[in-house]
Amino acid sequence: MPSSPYTGHANQAKHDIESSELRKKKRMKCLAYVAAFAVFQTAVILIFVLTIMKVRTPKFRVRSADFDESFQVGNLSTPSFSFRMDAELGVKNANFGNYKFQNSSIFFLYGDTGVGEAAFSKSKAGWRSTKKFHVSVDLSSKSLPSNSQLGNDLRSGVLNLRSQSRLDGKVELLFIFKKKKSVNMDCTLTIGVAEKQVRQISCK
Ligand SMILES: *[C@@H]1O[C@H](CO)[C@@H](O)[C@H](O)[C@H]1NC(C)=O
Ligand SMILES: *[C@@H]1O[C@H](CO)[C@@H](O)[C@H](O)[C@H]1NC(C)=O
Repeated sequence: MPSSPYTGHANQAKHDIESSELRKKKRMKCLAYVAAFAVFQTAVILIFVLTIMKVRTPKFRVRSADFDESFQVGNLSTPSFSFRMDAELGVKNANFGNYKFQNSSIFFLYGDTGVGEAAFSKSKAGWRSTKKFHVSVDLSSKSLPSNSQLGNDLRSGVLNLRSQSRLDGKVELLFIFKKKKSVNMDCTLTIGVAEKQVRQISCK
């Protein structure tokens, strides 16, 4: 039986409503995807900014130290020391970019008195890596005041030296953004006199 024109129109209208509703649903779904993607993008950018673009201060320390045959300490009535030390220094760079630093020096102290220093040349620590280099320094107690604690230290068998240094340089995030960053070193080396070895290195 042929449908009346009236029923036909009604069916057509119903069909139109359904398909427009379907289109609406599709549009909403699409919008939801776009919104989810935008949130995802924002999160990615935030993580990027917070982790990769963050400038971290490199760490500068004495990693190890050795002495050669020149190692000498005086007797207890005239306490003294004199030796050449080979120290391995490390610049640990946790940034997503190189850390380039200028020429500088490292100073060794007994108490507050300088007992030796060494210069080193400019260099760079690659991104997320540690730059290691060596300095040789002659250390001597000759500039110490006579009332120093050295006699007591040598009697107890240990010699505590401090190492201080400062790096001035730049962090280059992703090779583009440059940020000035200075790094201080302040370490204490505990040297065992009898065994002529470094027992411990602690850095602030
Ligand atoms: C300690 O060393 C000084 C100079 O090196 C020396 O004149 C003195 O005799 C020494 N004393 C002893 C007890 O060995
Ligand atoms: C850095 O040190 C080197 C030698 O170690 C020297 O030739 C150079 O002139 C120094 N540069 C600056 C800027 O002091």
